[in-house]
Amino acid sequence: MAKKVFKAVFKKADSSTFETIQRTLKEKELAVYIHIPFCRSICLYCPYVRYVVHDPKVISKYVDALEAEIRLYGNLLRDLDLSIVDIHAGGGTPSLLSGEQFERILSTLAECFETKSEIAIEANPEDLTDESRVFDLVDHGVTEVSLGVQSFNPQMLRRLGRRHSVEDSIRSIENLRQAGVNRINIDMMYMIPGQSIDDWERDLEIAVEQDVDEITCYPTLITEYCPGYRLVKKRKISQPNKRTFKKMVYATEDLLSSRGFEPVEIYGYSRKHGWKYVTVNYEMEGPLLGIGCGAMGFTGGCEYVNTCSVSEYIRSTFNEKIPVAGARLVSSKERAIRYTVCRLFVCRDLKFEDFRLKFKEDFRNVIGRSSFSGFLTLLRLLRYIQGYPKGIRLTRKGLFTAHLVCWAFVSNVPCRICEEYMKTAWPTEVTIP
Ligand SMILES: C[S@@+](CC[C@H](N)C(=O)[O-])C[C@H]1O[C@@H](n2cnc3c(N)ncnc32)[C@H](O)[C@@H]1O
Ligand code: SF4
Repeated sequence: MAKKVFKAVFKKADSSTFETIQRTLKEKELAVYIHIPFCRSICLYCPYVRYVVHDPKVISKYVDALEAEIRLYGNLLRDLDLSIVDIHAGGGTPSLLSGEQFERILSTLAECFETKSEIAIEANPEDLTDESRVFDLVDHGVTEVSLGVQSFNPQMLRRLGRRHSVEDSIRSIENLRQAGVNRINIDMMYMIPGQSIDDWERDLEIAVEQDVDEITCYPTLITEYCPGYRLVKKRKISQPNKRTFKKMVYATEDLLSSRGFEPVEIYGYSRKHGWKYVTVNYEMEGPLLGIGCGAMGFTGGCEYVNTCSVSEYIRSTFNEKIPVAGARLVSSKERAIRYTVCRLFVCRDLKFEDFRLKFKEDFRNVIGRSSFSGFLTLLRLLRYIQGYPKGIRLTRKGLFTAHLVCWAFVSNVPCRICEEYMKTAWPTEVTIP
């Protein structure tokens, strides 16, 4: 079933791919995602494009390559009059870069596009325990931080293979506030092998006591190519079952909502009204320019992935060749379905007016006439979603189903893309799942 629903074929890029990227960028406002594929070590269940590198010389060369790639896009898209409205750096570990390196990236973007001079980054707690490092990042344009706390339980941190301690996380949060960051998210993980529902609730109790604006809770995905997969396969350690998963989802919802954190996504809970650390909307809905080794981009009509080899990425950008390894066309119908899935199953709410603004057509005209509308009717009958005059929203009953849908999507699409493209730098064709 997943094989059919999520099937996508990426073809090796050629010169026509770059024209396609240009041609399919129809909106004036876009987001930029910058991938930093380096880590100090690899966590047991990490499914992303990441390599153990913390040599400053390699990082410095990589930042030069990022600048080169931004300039290539600056040239390609020069006449489109684009405006960058959001810049995120993810990883890997963006907090391995210095403030000055982020400033260089921001000023290169500003040379090429109309843009803002602020960047949101993912950070690892062990990088932010030194106050002066945090001030350095803030002084050079870092305004939002998503900190990978994962757990306040030392045993869970060990099970995930994390390098940092609970104290490191607490100190990093304090440092971020001291340095004036007023948009702090912390990432937490549940469904950790061996974790009980009590362990998870205790973790959440500590999380809500922290001075943070958002708490994002991810169920742990265990993919075949992560280092911990074999441990789980050999049953040395097992993940909580589906029943516990469901209990954990609703425990998260109830505990965080009762402590002043409003659900803003199925994963994210915010106590800063109107703010959430956004990444998934741009990835799913576009337009998003993906920059860096292993970055994925989506223009709205074309989805692409950059080579996942660091050396090939650097070589390609230094040779003035855009480092796209694979791309595929996305029809407007597929994009509309992607948007609907993202709004309903991730953001919990689809507003007809937002849909109309994005697609210049009525939701009912586009989705109502597609095969996807039968699926929505079924979800409505099951009371997983509910219509209201201005849109459709996810119900409490539907929350767990939304988690299952997203779990299936993430394992079968982005995780599979990473896995395949990490095998070969420039494959001819990749079919996922
Ligand atoms: C792209 S990672 C990078 C962030 C940063 N390097 C870190 O680990 O703190 C962003 C978030 O993904 C989540 N994550 C990592 N491994 C995961 C897994 N196997 N399943 C679900 N979420 C995961 C973690 O909460 C992490 O903070
Ligand atoms: S979870 Fe974060 S720190 Fe750990 S390997 Fe993945 S990207 Fe690196």
